Amino acid sequence: MPREQGGICAEGNLHGLYMMFNAYEGAELALPGVLAGLASWLQSSADRNADCAFNGFVAVGANYWDTLYPNQRPPLLNPFPQYSAEDRHTPSQPVDLFIHLRSDRLDFNHVVAQEVCRRLVGFAELVEEVRSFRYLDNRDFTGFVDGTENPTGSHRREVALVAEGEFAGGSYVHTQRYVHNMAQWQQQSIKTQEDTIGRTKVDNVEYPSAAKPAYCHIKRTNLKDEHGKGMEILRQSMPYGDMKEQGLFFISCCYTPVHFEKQLHSMVVGDGHGHHDHLLNYTQAVTGASFFAPSLDFLEQAAN
Ligand code: HEM
Repeated sequence: MPREQGGICAEGNLHGLYMMFNAYEGAELALPGVLAGLASWLQSSADRNADCAFNGFVAVGANYWDTLYPNQRPPLLNPFPQYSAEDRHTPSQPVDLFIHLRSDRLDFNHVVAQEVCRRLVGFAELVEEVRSFRYLDNRDFTGFVDGTENPTGSHRREVALVAEGEFAGGSYVHTQRYVHNMAQWQQQSIKTQEDTIGRTKVDNVEYPSAAKPAYCHIKRTNLKDEHGKGMEILRQSMPYGDMKEQGLFFISCCYTPVHFEKQLHSMVVGDGHGHHDHLLNYTQAVTGASFFAPSLDFLEQAAN
């Protein structure tokens, strides 16, 4: 298997820093070399800075891929899906590059981000930056533990990485920045909040199947394919925000984009029987973008 970028499957950290760039016209000639150098530098930085568990990855936007690598396209790389139902929508804000940095040190992420920006000067413009952090014991700002049912151990790689072919070791990545309506959420009883997620709040215990409302978040996202196999994704989401705005920076990494697309459809449009995900009554996505994070080997070969 070609070498993957370490940040795709990395275990959780205390701090995240995400940067979205749009490339300047004409930069596509030099960018393959710049990105290969950047991804390889992130990887060696991870090896040298294991004490703060630093990791990172570089991903290329679905709408920019063909400009950057006109000869080879990941076969399932699609623009971000657009779903709408009642007042629920999935906004899409395509960007050309996504740089994902995480470690257990805020200052270290900052230093790395400075170097990322230095390497991209003249090639791409920073359009969005978000800094995230671990909140309590891995909770989202709703107060619920997030990530419990994520794949663990070596299964993370099976779920997150393309296993075979030209794009092996790469990952289909989706991001969405959610803004929570905290005032409205906090007005709900604990029972209503727990029914919305499908788990208990303090102890994080999953509801028994029979007790799960059709509108609860885990019912809407725990989907099976036509063979009865779980359609898993690796979620690398973390909370972000300040006193003005709070939410979740949602990130999905998977060997196929289909699982995320189906889950998002099931949340927004629902199950066909009038049940959408009630979590969306309290939070709203304000961005959405679709990427592919290629293997280190692909990036190096494409640069030559
Ligand atoms: C589970 C929060 C958006 C997919 C969960 C859980 C929480 C949570 C608290 C239960 C614990 C766990 O297993 O992690 C949130 C919040 C979101 C959000 C606050 C946005 C504001 C999404 C989106 C997707 C998604 C957009 C995919 C399209 C999943 C999946 C699970 C899950 C697959 C595991 C379900 C299971 O197997 O039990 N989420 N989530 N989530 N979420 Fe989300």
